[in-house]
Order: sequence, then C-alpha cells, then structure tokens
Amino acid sequence: MPVIYLDNNATTPLDERVLEAMLPYLREHFGNPSSSTHAYGWTAGAAVDVAREELAAAIGASPEEVFFTSGATEADNWALLGVLRPGEHLVTAATEHEAIRETAHYLEQCGVRVTVLPVDRFGVVAPETLREAITSETTLVSIMLANNETGTLNPVAELAEVAHEAGVPFHTDAAQALGKVSIDVEKLSMDLMSFSAHKCYGPKGIGALYVRRRPRRDVRRVRPAPLLHGGGQERGLRSGTLNVPGIVGFGRAAALAADALPEEPERIATLRDKLREGLSAGVPDVRLNGHPAERLPNTLNVSFPGVRAVDLLAALADVAASSGSACASSRPDASHVLRAMGLEEERALSSVRFSLGRFTTLKEVERAVELVADAVREFGASFVGMEQP
Ligand SMILES: Cc1ncc(COP(=O)(O)O)c(C=O)c1O
Repeated sequence: MPVIYLDNNATTPLDERVLEAMLPYLREHFGNPSSSTHAYGWTAGAAVDVAREELAAAIGASPEEVFFTSGATEADNWALLGVLRPGEHLVTAATEHEAIRETAHYLEQCGVRVTVLPVDRFGVVAPETLREAITSETTLVSIMLANNETGTLNPVAELAEVAHEAGVPFHTDAAQALGKVSIDVEKLSMDLMSFSAHKCYGPKGIGALYVRRRPRRDVRRVRPAPLLHGGGQERGLRSGTLNVPGIVGFGRAAALAADALPEEPERIATLRDKLREGLSAGVPDVRLNGHPAERLPNTLNVSFPGVRAVDLLAALADVAASSGSACASSRPDASHVLRAMGLEEERALSSVRFSLGRFTTLKEVERAVELVADAVREFGASFVGMEQP
C-alpha cells in the first residue's frame, strides 16, 4: 500500500477531472486572454469567463466580484495591504495563517495599529471580543473562516455583523473552507474573502480574492488598491498575464466541490470520526484539539501525551500527516494556534494533524489507526519528558 495521505490541509491531489479540463489550455488553447484580435485570445478569454462563473456560483457571488490571484497568500496580502494605510487600525486574530500574521506584522512596521484578538480553548473568536476591539480608526477586520491546523470554524457571519455595526468591512481567509463547508458570501455577509485552488483538488499557484461590489449601507466601501501594476488585467486591479490553465482548473475544482456538497463532507467526517475512535481505542489519553463540533469535516488534530509529534511522524514512514509545529531548528516551536488556545507547550508539541480528503478510503483509515497506535506504543515511552532538543 502506498503512503497513506492524511495531509489534505497542506495540499490536495489534483482531481483527474480538473486535469482533463486544464490540458487543452496547456496545449492547443495556449492563447493570451488579453489578445483581443484573434481566436487564440478569444478561446482563452472564454475559458476564463467560464471559470470565473464557476467559482462565483460556488461561493454565491457574481463573476465581477472574483479576482484571480496566485493563491490565498496573495489574496490575503492584497486584502490587507490594499486596504490599510498608516494610522489606521486592523483587527485580526491569534490563530490566523502566516499569510495574515506576517502581513499584519509588516503593516505594523508601516505605522498601522494592529489588534490581535485572543481565542477560546477551542480556537474560536468571540463576537464580544471583537466588539470591544473596534475603534473609530478601525479600517478592516480579518478573521479566518476555518483554521488550517485544528479545523475550528469561526462564527464569521456574526463577527461580520459586529464589524458592520461599526461601519467596518470584514475579510475572511477561506482557503481551508472551500468545498468542505457551504459558502455563500451573501449569507455570511462577507466583503473580502480569500481562496486557494490547491486546497480543493485544483492546481497550485492559483487562488482568488472575492471583493464585494455593492457597498453596504453605513459600511466603508472596500476596494483594495492593486499590489501588482502593469497591463491592467482583472479590471485594472491585478495586472499580469492570466494563468489560464490554473484558472480553468480552479473553476472546475470549485464547481466539482460545490456539486459534492453536502454528501462528500459527510462521508469524510464519518471517516474522520472513525480515525478518532480508532486512535482513542488504541492509544491511552488521546486528546482532541479544536472545537468538537464547529470544525471542518476532514480535520482531526490530536495530542499524544508524552510523545513528541515530530519524532512520531518521522517514525511513521507509511502515513503522511503534519505536526503543525515549525521544525526549522532541532527544537521545534510549538504551534502558535495551539498556544493561543491555551495548550501547554508540551501538549502542543505532541499534537498531530490528520486531514482527510476526497480520495481517503476506509481501508486507509483503518490501516493508519494501526500504524499510528503501534508507533505511539513503540516509541511513546522513550519520548516522555521531551526535554531533549
Ligand atoms: C488558512 C490558509 N490561508 C492561506 C494559505 C496559503 O494558501 P496558498 O498556498 O494558496 O498561498 C493556506 C495554505 O496553507 C491556509 O491554510
């Protein structure tokens, strides 16, 4: 059996149907959509139009509100850097992805005031906390929809309502949410929303920023200034020749993911729960990290007390999962997400993220349970204490 892939929050394999849709745009339909004088350009342009409609339909937006980017990192950077100016105020949360955290940090150095909201023990931002943080200088609130490490879902519709009451627009990083939970920009009251294709069986290097077009009553209009200047693609807001095969793949991936709702996430959640039950039965004291219910259907983040996650994963040659800790040095840093939830450093360092996906089978889950439980039993005792570097 090949290595069991349980790291779908890091990236997903390309769906065959997505690849099939992309191939003609890597071969014969290689035109530049900006070429308006011949059929090569028109064919490519028409494909981009279809993909824009597919993504828009998947998120309840209109096509003019979708701007393609190189991924969610760019979309997050654009949402923040394109809106905030020195002297203004950004409110964000402690469990955000680095694409938001580092951008907020950079903005701080440029004279933007940044408030980082705490989360509860499940990783959730409380609407009251946001209400207290907003001031008359607040220009944007950015709080993620689904956390990449724990899968915890934030109540973004409620949070957006709090922001809107104060006249402030709301951005959410939905990179992990597309295809796993249903998304409707209207129902969620979103103003800006970031997406990534490779998290939902599309290609890498393509994403999008949703930008609400119609201003809300009594809410500051949000129109991010361009980061990339040049040929004026994407209605002048994001220059650069369009990644046509990537865009076509993203559109197809978004449409397939939307079509599979809600059955597919339900199937994955059942497997995810089997994984948890199996681990709990086979390993003493497994603890769940993240919200028990308000959580992505595919994500299981658990601590194995007394076992260092990086060592466990190194011993698990046949299971691909993730430790959530940055291990650039010999002594890994505990995940900022788990620390923000109040986990002790030791427990955070013993946490493993399993993220299931469209191609995960029951057989794989059963085998993974055996392999993980064996490895924990075999190596567990020798890792106790974790004082070694
Ligand atoms: C929540 C979240 N935001 C942003 C990103 C970055 O996405 P991309 O790889 O498309 O730049 C990721 C991917 O790891 C993510 O999980």
